[in-house]
Amino acid sequence: HPIKTASAPWTDSTLPLLAAGYAWLPDRMRATDGEPVRTRLLGRPVIALRGPEAIGFFYDERHVKRTAALPGPVLDTLFGRGAVHTLDGDAHRVRKAMFLALLKDGAGVSALAEHVAQQWAKASTEWQDGRDVVLFDEAAVILARAVCAWVGVERSDEAYRRVAEDCVAMVDGFATPGPRHWRARAARKRQEEALVAEICTIREGGELVSDSGTALEVVAWHRDADGRLLDPHTAAVELLNIIRPTVAIAWFAAFAAHALHRWPAHREPLRKDTGSRYARAFAHEVRRFYPFAPFVGGLAVSDLTWRGENIAKDTLVLLDLYGHDHDPGLWDSPYRFDPQRFTDREPGADELIPQGGGDPARGHRCPGEDITVAVLSTLVTQLADLDFEVPDQDLTIPLSRVPTRPRSGFVFRAVRER
Ligand code: HEM
Repeated sequence: HPIKTASAPWTDSTLPLLAAGYAWLPDRMRATDGEPVRTRLLGRPVIALRGPEAIGFFYDERHVKRTAALPGPVLDTLFGRGAVHTLDGDAHRVRKAMFLALLKDGAGVSALAEHVAQQWAKASTEWQDGRDVVLFDEAAVILARAVCAWVGVERSDEAYRRVAEDCVAMVDGFATPGPRHWRARAARKRQEEALVAEICTIREGGELVSDSGTALEVVAWHRDADGRLLDPHTAAVELLNIIRPTVAIAWFAAFAAHALHRWPAHREPLRKDTGSRYARAFAHEVRRFYPFAPFVGGLAVSDLTWRGENIAKDTLVLLDLYGHDHDPGLWDSPYRFDPQRFTDREPGADELIPQGGGDPARGHRCPGEDITVAVLSTLVTQLADLDFEVPDQDLTIPLSRVPTRPRSGFVFRAVRER
């Protein structure tokens, strides 16, 4: 069928993207009936795709590569230089296997969720005095403590708060110029330096012989496709690529609280939940419904054709994640928050893609989805178990801000244990 692409491919969309945030790509897609959108970002030609077929095309390494695709300001804040996100081919597969061995469902994931449950229980006893609690901030600290213990990094009480604040800053400042961006850079530098020191200390202790080490040990002794250990800085970057996104589950925690507050009928099924089936469904729906990662991108490996549309080599190819998860052609009433979508079944791999699509072992799909779902279900269960009041506050979630969250961070008060 005829391809309708958005007009004005020569117009640079960097400023409209910064201004419209999450709405930018879906709005452009709506104008083309979901067909590819052509534009420019930072002066580079761009084509944006969406839909199940586009996922297969995008995650085929013969089509789209990641080397040199991410702008420096994103690497210096969100991911780090030399990160797995920037690799292709064998180099990517071998590095990715390290992440998957650490992060896929199994004993490790349950242990991390257990750490989170314990940290929440400890923190919630301190909330009983009726003070105002900012859920987003507290969740970040709970997650920082839990993930640091889990990866094998010990810190003082004060330093855990710093880890939480720095990880939040790295995520908060990657997509925007100005003070948020400079905070993000400083935060990354500080945390990378601290982890380089940890990596060096571990290496002085002698090579890990068993394959059941902590994430710190596994990363310190990981050998890349070329058979060499990671240089200490790259090792620190990858360790931070486990710690930072785990702390970032605080965004979903704040969204989950928002959903429970807005649609309180979900509280009872969560309280009565056995085997955390409802909590998992709720976690999936939070990941689908709320805006977090807008899209992913890479560069066209060569001159390509996508459904009759020519894509020149080195074009930036974007895959619309947020739009996919709200596409009325793929979801029944996509703007209705409804965990029932997932109570009887787990979502299909390319059905729900808030953390990327395709096969995580072969492509760049997030290796942290099992952790995200397990940890978020744990947090949702604990949140539903608390009795609290929600004072007047600004709970709007501005779509123009990337990443966004309820403006107040979700404040609650007068907590009583059930
Ligand atoms: C990659 C989202 C949590 C580790 C990604 C990608 C997205 C994403 C969109 C890129 C996919 C692509 O390029 O195709 C999220 C969101 C999370 C989250 C929204 C919620 C907090 C986690 C967690 C971990 C993690 C908990 C680790 C414990 C990674 C790594 C990559 C990645 C290492 C790079 C994979 C690669 O390049 O092959 N994530 N993620 N993420 N994520 Fe996550």
